[in-house]
Amino acid sequence: METTFEHEPVLMDSVLTLLAPVPGGVYCDATVGGGGHAERVLEACAPDGRLLGIDRDPEAVTAARARLARFGDRVSIRHGRFSQIEGLLAEAGVKSVDGLLVDLGVSSPQLDHARRGFSFMRVGPLDMRMDPTDGETAATLLARLSEDELADLIFRFGGERLARPIARSIKAMEAAGSLETTSDLAVAVRRVAGRKAKGDIDPATRTFQAIRIAVNCELEELSSLLDLLPEPLAVGGRVVVISFHSLEDRLVKKRFDGLASPCSCPRDMPVCSCPPPSVEHVTRRFVRVTAAEAGANPRARSARARAVRRIR
Ligand SMILES: C[S@@+](CC[C@H](N)C(=O)[O-])C[C@H]1O[C@@H](n2cnc3c(N)ncnc32)[C@H](O)[C@@H]1O
Repeated sequence: METTFEHEPVLMDSVLTLLAPVPGGVYCDATVGGGGHAERVLEACAPDGRLLGIDRDPEAVTAARARLARFGDRVSIRHGRFSQIEGLLAEAGVKSVDGLLVDLGVSSPQLDHARRGFSFMRVGPLDMRMDPTDGETAATLLARLSEDELADLIFRFGGERLARPIARSIKAMEAAGSLETTSDLAVAVRRVAGRKAKGDIDPATRTFQAIRIAVNCELEELSSLLDLLPEPLAVGGRVVVISFHSLEDRLVKKRFDGLASPCSCPRDMPVCSCPPPSVEHVTRRFVRVTAAEAGANPRARSARARAVRRIR
């Protein structure tokens, strides 16, 4: 069984610039993964800064605890979802944070370890849960959805134009009792979409991504966290979000813009009664990976970071 946890953190220098950790600061890495970003934040806020790490994947929690053990009681790692951040911070005795980092998406071990059931390149169970102790597996989801519901999901979360015939093919294989593994699911997609052409992404990519987003309620999780902002930031505190999907980035941009420019008055309104802005943008647009980073770590290619700072 695969046990190593190897994940190359993306946009490392930009994360440190945007989060701007300082000695004595209190930070939360809400998607701590293998602890790569967290380790650099802990180094930057030495000797007395603290970090609470959260991850919904128990294997990430174990890996982050091992990697960050040298920081002693400056670090605490908790298992949970970031939509539960208020309770997790309270349990750790943290009232507010000077920096919150959210690095969305999946970790490399989740994709690389066949038994996690995320990958169309490996034979694994149809699982795809980031937290294997919680929620519905991909197999259960696929069995529960009608063909139309599945097609809508594949189109919405995967942007797949062949969503309808792919959903039909998946449901046909399921009805025939031949949809057991990630390879079976990939076969169902390829029967419609063909095989990977040179230079293209694998045609199964979009369907697997869509099912994974649904299994893990990823957009609901992100919306719940964004709705809490500007809490739990202290005044002056920053939140940095790295997204890998346009749907995620759109949610982040909309919420950040809404907090930074909350006025919705018509132009001719004599007196504005909207709340004042609670944050200001740290990045004018978003930060992307350099060509060198994308070359060295192809999984980082679509990463975009946005950041805001609480001002009241
Ligand atoms: C891209 S990885 C983070 C890698 C990490 N920054 C590092 O340096 O190793 C994303 C992590 O977020 C976790 N995750 C995704 N959604 C989550 C959620 N709603 N709550 C908590 N953790 C989540 C995943 O389990 C995964 O470990």
